[in-house]
Amino acid sequence: MTLSITKLTPHVGAEIAGVDASREPDGATAKAIVDAWLEHGVIVMRGQDLTDDQQAAFAGLFGTLTERSRPVEKRNEGNRGEPDAYAGYTMLVTNIRKDGKPIGSLPDGDMMFHADLVYREIPSRATILYGIETPKAGGDTLFASLTAAYEALDDETKALVDGKYAKQGYHYGITHREDNEPLQSYVHPLVQVIPETGKKALFASRLMTMSIEGMDEAESDALLARLFDHIEDPRFIYAHKWRPGDLLVWDNRTTVHGRTDFDPKERRLLRRFATTGARPIPA
Ligand code: OGA
Ligand code: MN
Repeated sequence: MTLSITKLTPHVGAEIAGVDASREPDGATAKAIVDAWLEHGVIVMRGQDLTDDQQAAFAGLFGTLTERSRPVEKRNEGNRGEPDAYAGYTMLVTNIRKDGKPIGSLPDGDMMFHADLVYREIPSRATILYGIETPKAGGDTLFASLTAAYEALDDETKALVDGKYAKQGYHYGITHREDNEPLQSYVHPLVQVIPETGKKALFASRLMTMSIEGMDEAESDALLARLFDHIEDPRFIYAHKWRPGDLLVWDNRTTVHGRTDFDPKERRLLRRFATTGARPIPA
């Protein structure tokens, strides 16, 4: 495979042309793909045609496939659309319903910025999302760079966040923040260093970062509100407009993602795999 890599915005996202993700890349190609992912935070490969097995094999380039995050007691009929072989691993992101119930997860509407599984001790490393049916308009996935956001902080704010820890939590099944106690949470460094690149990332998101340890509530809320606005500054964002056949891989350590609203009458179906990471390393 001969790859050509084009940046999509100054800070985040690159499109890679020349990848056929249904085939196993040779060692040099695999390295080039993973390096582009590490450098750009999100890689986009258009025009793919993938079975579950092929997507799972490609996802394996970015780590070990993870179990789905869904708490067992919350499992619904919803995942019967999934093939048995990957029942523990794959997740359909879709608004398609059978007998009135969504056949997958995260069905409707817009979604606040977050990174996947950050409320666990071991957050997701990569998420590999493949578009099967996509709306004509809306339902874009937005990505913000946490490394660019960290670099762009003024020195005073860097001094405030450096060395801090924050509670990352999640209310199962929600796309917007709630004020009650999260179902799952874990305290992680607010600034983490990425071992492969040495870059520092501001590890926070509007949906999941609940509070900063060692600060009183008002102080923590005010600083977090300022950090969320900074991270979501349009200059750090890539907005992905989905087409069927799009394959995206994002790094949950160096990017956060959210979703724009879309017409509930339109069908949206994406297939997701994720890989496990390591405990975030304080910067
Ligand atoms: C996800 C997710 C956003 C989208 O799959 O983790 O946040 O655009 N999806 O559906
Ligand atoms: Mn997500």
